[in-house]
Amino acid sequence: LAKIEIKLAEIPEGKSVTFKWRGKPLFIRHRTAKEIETEQAVPLESLRDPEADGARAQRPDWLVVIGVCTHLGCVPIANAGDFGGYYCPCHGSHYDASGRIRKGPAPLNLEVPPHTFGDEEGILVV
Ligand code: FES
Repeated sequence: LAKIEIKLAEIPEGKSVTFKWRGKPLFIRHRTAKEIETEQAVPLESLRDPEADGARAQRPDWLVVIGVCTHLGCVPIANAGDFGGYYCPCHGSHYDASGRIRKGPAPLNLEVPPHTFGDEEGILVV
C-alpha cells in the first residue's frame, strides 16, 4: 500500500497538478468557485456515466482523479477540451472539471481513488 500525502496549500486555485501514485498519474485539481458551480449544476441525465459532482468531490474545491483516460489509457491534458476539465488528445475525449466524460470515445468518468483529507489542515492522503 503506497500512500502519498499531498500538501494542498502548494496547489493554487485553478490549477491541476499531476503526482505519481502507484505507477499512475494522479491529478489533484484546486477548483475555482465557477468550476464548482458549473459542475454541480450539470443535469445527471445529460451524462454518459451519470455521477453527481458531490459524489466525486468530497470537498467541492478539490477534485482527485486518476489521470488515465478510460478509453485506451492515455494521459489527458488539464484545462483543455470543450468542457474545460481534461482533454485526451489520443482520440479526442473531453472531460469536465469533475473528471466526467462529456464527449468523445471514452466510456467512463476518470476514476476517483479512495482519499481522505487529513486532520492537519491542507493535507490530502491518497
Ligand atoms: Fe483517450 Fe482514446 S485513449 S481518447
